[in-house]
Amino acid sequence: MTTSMQLIIDAEAIAKRVRELGANISEHYGDEPLIMVCVLKGAFIFFADLVRAMPIEPEVDFVRLASYGAQTSRKERILFTKDMELPVQDKHVLVVDDIVDTGHSALYLLNVLRMRGAKSLRVCALIDKRERREVDVSVDFPGFVLSEGFVIGYGLDYAERYRHLPAVYTLNADV
Ligand code: IMP
Ligand code: MG
Repeated sequence: MTTSMQLIIDAEAIAKRVRELGANISEHYGDEPLIMVCVLKGAFIFFADLVRAMPIEPEVDFVRLASYGAQTSRKERILFTKDMELPVQDKHVLVVDDIVDTGHSALYLLNVLRMRGAKSLRVCALIDKRERREVDVSVDFPGFVLSEGFVIGYGLDYAERYRHLPAVYTLNADV
């Protein structure tokens, strides 16, 4: 099997959208204290660009989630492999993810942060695959909405490859 890549969002379009998101997010929170949580690993490049596109000063923190799926039952167990370090109680929290796809992992994280007493919870994602959602999670600040395709680059991987690419591509398996 070989694979081919097709450019779908170039670096310039990403930079423009990140500037818009940074402005929208800053305007939304204003002077309210904000914790931005980067969901590792996929969001690391997006997150670094986004915080630098914001005139307001957020606190930053990082989580990493792993899902252990029994593929056949569609029941997934999601765990933190790295938890946050900052307390979120009574703080506005913005989760920054690479992709919200089925929504299972984002829902897990939002539920945990809600139980810990976050004052408000919102989600920003570089890519919102909203048509594929299986649970009720909405992306408050979506970068790009995609309906199909497996995407890589700008932090997104396939089997830990392609994260370094400065743009977003679809990855096609040519069998
Ligand atoms: P969800 O729990 O199905 O929403 O899973 C979302 C996670 O799966 C994302 O945060 C990504 O890490 C990964 N993922 C989903 N779709 C893609 C894709 O097209 N490319 C790379 N990773 C993806
Ligand atoms: Mg992810």
